[in-house]
Amino acid sequence: MTRSSIEQEVLGRVLPTDAERSAAQEMGNKLIAAVNEVAGVPAMMTGSVARGTWVRGDKDIDIFMLFPPEISREELQEKGLAAAYAVVEKFSGTSEEKYAEHPYLNAVIEGFDVDLVPCYHVGSTAEMKCAVDRTPFHTRYLLPKIGSLREDVLLLKQFAKGGGVYGSDHMTGGFSGYLCELLILAYGEFSQFMQAASEFRYGEVVDIEKYYADTKETRKKFSEPLIVIDPTDKDRNVAAALTPTRFAEFMELARDYCASPSPLYFVADPPTQMGKTEFAAVLQMRGTSMLAVRMKTPAYVADTVVPQLRKTMESMKAMLIAEDFQVHRAEVSMGAETCLILFELIIARLPAIVLRSGPPVWNHENADRFVEKYLMQEEFAGPWIDEDRYYTEVRRNYTSAESLLSDKQKVLSGSLGRHVRQVMEEDGYEVLEGVDVWSVEFSFFLSAFFARSSHAIRKLRGIKAEQQ
Ligand code: UTP
Ligand code: MN
Repeated sequence: MTRSSIEQEVLGRVLPTDAERSAAQEMGNKLIAAVNEVAGVPAMMTGSVARGTWVRGDKDIDIFMLFPPEISREELQEKGLAAAYAVVEKFSGTSEEKYAEHPYLNAVIEGFDVDLVPCYHVGSTAEMKCAVDRTPFHTRYLLPKIGSLREDVLLLKQFAKGGGVYGSDHMTGGFSGYLCELLILAYGEFSQFMQAASEFRYGEVVDIEKYYADTKETRKKFSEPLIVIDPTDKDRNVAAALTPTRFAEFMELARDYCASPSPLYFVADPPTQMGKTEFAAVLQMRGTSMLAVRMKTPAYVADTVVPQLRKTMESMKAMLIAEDFQVHRAEVSMGAETCLILFELIIARLPAIVLRSGPPVWNHENADRFVEKYLMQEEFAGPWIDEDRYYTEVRRNYTSAESLLSDKQKVLSGSLGRHVRQVMEEDGYEVLEGVDVWSVEFSFFLSAFFARSSHAIRKLRGIKAEQQ
């Protein structure tokens, strides 16, 4: 195999040195010994650091503490956290509790970012008691196989990062590290995989261990755009978190890269920021109306909060549309302090009147009721007859999208995410309009909102600009 000059240059940047690898390994071993000592249970290092497949610069050491499957969920959480705190204390590190499926500790120990995660020590994935129990099996499976493919894995991971499709978190909905490793394992080489990916279609199947007879059988069971059967668990699609959008974006990136390779594909687009004046100018130019709902950030991890924000956004959007406010685009952002649900509207203000259509004239019972109801209305016109029906003008419920979103009772009657609802009920929320939507916390998010275009399009623009 020969490496292209682009690949060589990228590897120079992302491949951890031998010294870095042994330092991480040594830290891992020390942590494992510490878990044994403080909790009397075995532990193992998982994730990319355990497999030597991390992109230089972002090493997060994942230590899984393996507790006996006999103990209850509560006991696991309790003992797990206690062990994690004891380990952190032993190394005089700092830590922060995180909540995923169950609580774990995210610590900084001797300069390393360490996750200490309790799980059950089970003999096979069939005996799993919670989702994280699967993770150690990934490492056991990949460790003996991935050594000679490390460079290709890192090329793919960096390509995915450069294209903004790396990460299986809810905000990204892209490729996880484990998925990248399996794809390289299946296709052998980065360049071969890229060729294949440029011809991907919805419903692509990768079944390394050949658990299923054919792609037809696999597609019957899984419906996602990319189906990569987990070699450690045949009932799981490793690419389940990959959204159709990110899948298609990746295919677009692979196609463009194969047609005309450039180092730009391995460099993440730097996030752009937008000041208040610029924000005001963009609003003026677009001529749309910006509205945002801002609430305190619930104390849960992004993977819990972001889907809830999206659900809340969908509920609000449906209410806006039902009241005739035309929504152009909507997005959510989770900041450290506050969360923002952003709406860009084509129409945010409406006149006082709204047309209500009534029953057919010959439907006497309903017609009488309709006429009775609006008989004494003096404000507006109606009821009148047009062809076979009654119509009348009535006063609109909300003449501004802002007043609708400010109606707390109405907004809270929708189907919102649990923790998001909780903060909105307990701490309230703000409705921001126009230039007030801007704040430092969301200056990157707002910039990205307006600059929207797929990553491949941005790369093509970058390449064009370089040529000129
Ligand atoms: P990480 O998110 O740290 O991934 O999860 P990673 O493979 O180490 O990749 P990078 O280099 O940090 O980005 C650690 C392990 O947890 C399991 C995988 O086994 C992964 O290697 N995991 C994580 C999943 O099974 N699914 C996920 O969505 C995330
Ligand atoms: Mn990791």
